[in-house]
Amino acid sequence: MKMKQRILTGDRPTGPLHLGHYVGSLVNRVKLQDEYDCFFIIADYQVLTDHLKETATIGENIREIVLDYLSVGIDPQKSTIFIQSKIPAITELTMYFSMMVSLSRVQKNPTVKEELKSAQEAGRIDEITYGFVGYPISQAADILFVRAHLVPVGKDQLPHIEQTQEIARKFNRLFGEVFPIPEALIGEVPILPGTDGQKMSKSRSNAIYLSDSPEIVTKKVDSAITDPERIHSTDKGHPDICNVFQYHKAFNKEEAEEIEQKCKNARIGCVACKKRLIEKLNAFLEPIREKRAFYEGRDDLIREILNTGNKKTKKEAEKTLKLVREAMHFNYKELLTDNR
Ligand code: TRP
Repeated sequence: MKMKQRILTGDRPTGPLHLGHYVGSLVNRVKLQDEYDCFFIIADYQVLTDHLKETATIGENIREIVLDYLSVGIDPQKSTIFIQSKIPAITELTMYFSMMVSLSRVQKNPTVKEELKSAQEAGRIDEITYGFVGYPISQAADILFVRAHLVPVGKDQLPHIEQTQEIARKFNRLFGEVFPIPEALIGEVPILPGTDGQKMSKSRSNAIYLSDSPEIVTKKVDSAITDPERIHSTDKGHPDICNVFQYHKAFNKEEAEEIEQKCKNARIGCVACKKRLIEKLNAFLEPIREKRAFYEGRDDLIREILNTGNKKTKKEAEKTLKLVREAMHFNYKELLTDNR
């Protein structure tokens, strides 16, 4: 039997997942879980990079993310869900990798650069930690410890995948072929803006969550920013710069073209356009809500999924780390009888 290729991707447990996560990565995960051997990481260490004072909430956030995964159709019979900090091999690999990336390369990572810039502007540059600047290296270890081939992610994560590829290549060159070079897989809708047109994020309160009720979805869409150049409903609209139209393109493909034409000719107003979107979004979210309701309160099932996932992942991680230690001459066989 031909071995399946592997997927690794995941999320930081900082809060519930939103529609941006869905179109960027979740939809691909669900689609590919038969074709690939999938591992989904809940990256709790990575939360420490900027939420150090909120560690008490991580556990509850992990639970929410597992619920989000299950409710969109990630099937624990097919895919493995695990918690980053429970896999010691990832930490070990992070240590090796951190010696293979120059400081200047770390500082050139565009996503990190952007984050440093906003910290600078907010007068918080002194709060940026060593661990924060290095998180793409730890993320490379997240991906490579299972020797993954494919990483379904949102577009903002691309620089990290590129850096992961560089690390894999460098390791292979220095110590021999251990790692495949993983490829990123970007969603069909690479970036979904928040309801205010800015990057969708929890901190900006502009996100629509997979767990939002119909009433909340209605409220959020009703107050969403539309085409800023369209003041009256008799004005012709510009769907290409309209935030709400991006949602139609992502969640209402069948009607998107018709809405685009009507908007351009002032034959549909923003209120009616939003109403159609609300119906579509709620229809899309309904089965997700039903699945969530099924799993909610079944904490024993969630416990079982995570315990089994961690156990299986640890086993696979050890296989890779064995190869890594062997390749790096870190076994000291003459000195040690026990290598773990
Ligand atoms: N940085 C990712 C995010 O914020 C989460 C993440 C951690 C991840 N480790 C990963 C994504 C490994 C893909 C692969 O969304």
